[in-house]
Amino acid sequence: MDRIRIVGGNELHGIIPISGAKNAALPLMIASLLTSDTLTLENVPHLADVEQLLRILGNHGVDVSVNGRRERQEDSYSRTIHFTCRTIVDTTAPYELVSKMRASFWVIGPLLAREGHCRVSLPGGCAIGTRPVDLFLDGLTALGANLEIDSGYINATAPKGGLIGAKYTFPKVSVGATHVMMMAATLARGTTVIGNAAREPEVVDLANCLIAMGAKITGAGTSTITIEGVTTLSGARHRVLPDRIETGTYAMAVAMAGGDVVLENTDVTLLDTALETLRRAGAEISATNNGMRVRRNGAGIRPVDIVTDPFPGFPTDLQAQFMALMTRSTGVSHVTETIFENRFMHVQELARLGAKISLSGQTAKIEGVPRLKGAPVMATDLRASVSLVIAGLAAEGETMVSRVYHLDRGFERLEEKLTRCGAIVERVSE
Ligand code: UD1
Repeated sequence: MDRIRIVGGNELHGIIPISGAKNAALPLMIASLLTSDTLTLENVPHLADVEQLLRILGNHGVDVSVNGRRERQEDSYSRTIHFTCRTIVDTTAPYELVSKMRASFWVIGPLLAREGHCRVSLPGGCAIGTRPVDLFLDGLTALGANLEIDSGYINATAPKGGLIGAKYTFPKVSVGATHVMMMAATLARGTTVIGNAAREPEVVDLANCLIAMGAKITGAGTSTITIEGVTTLSGARHRVLPDRIETGTYAMAVAMAGGDVVLENTDVTLLDTALETLRRAGAEISATNNGMRVRRNGAGIRPVDIVTDPFPGFPTDLQAQFMALMTRSTGVSHVTETIFENRFMHVQELARLGAKISLSGQTAKIEGVPRLKGAPVMATDLRASVSLVIAGLAAEGETMVSRVYHLDRGFERLEEKLTRCGAIVERVSE
């Protein structure tokens, strides 16, 4: 199993290209199930989660070709992929496939809307909380679906004539349930109004793609999304938006290691709250034509408290990385996690590097230390694992991160991007 070896102490200087957003690419790929025409997605990142979803979509009958050819391009940063689902050949999403990645459960929306029935395994995914599916089921039930749980599967059936538009307000903000309800409602009869919808940029990106496919959607990016159902959707060409979590992660890496880096192909407006927090911690950040420049020269890292929240709040997917940064701050900071109940698994690994962190319920208290010392650590989930890499960049000596398959799920060529900026980061295969 691969490990990542980091020798800390080098500043970062150079350019890092930001990939397309994993969390947008996944729902966009799933949207290809809604049409028999070709959906072309540009800027699709090359990640384990994307490859896994390609397998899942293939199982349902989606024909995939990469950059017009059928073979994979192993060495391009981002790819253009064409998805064509002339007919849905299988409406079952089996446990063996869905258990590997939670987002694959989202096929339930398009399958149900297009075929009127499906059987989808309950999901797996990162072990960062119980992550139930009640909101998905309540939303689809509001559209008239009949849902039964049977041996770990959801058997879903639409009423005769298809799903029916409805007004439904989520009791809690869910990105995935918003994606699914929006996709399902595009082909429902009548108008759907989703209340308390997720406002994440990835929801807006999916809505824009669906609109290009002929869907009638207004309000994406606000907490009320209105969808007027249409009978069919067509193909479209759409570019996946930049990965704001990858952007924020590298911005934090620069804040941690010091240096001066341009993050290319991204957009400061996607992560206002996180960047403002980083500025308060001492990073200098300025927008460029095509991204942003991040610097920290000499000055210490100031302690800043954060609370994670749905967009536009501080993203839970940057919480672990920010905590890593705070381990080197000049005082005491607090990190409160409000989205997932078990998202502090990086705490004990950061402690192995010498961090001083104590937990009380959903809040971590971090007492900055003058130095971290490299050690063997273990990645526990996607974002936690990259927080260990960030800590390793500033730790004295060698940090060896094991179980890096978590990183490969969501960070395209991490070691290459960091090495080009002067870090000592290498993949060690066994
Ligand atoms: C998405 C992101 C993930 C991010 C999360 C929150 C993707 C592929 N993943 O995950 O990286 O960390 O948003 O920004 O886009 N919940 C319920 N019932 C449900 C659904 C969710 O209680 O039916 C809860 C979850 O347990 C969690 C909260 O709602 O506590 C938010 O989860 P949600 O927004 O659904 O996260 P995901 O869409 O799974």
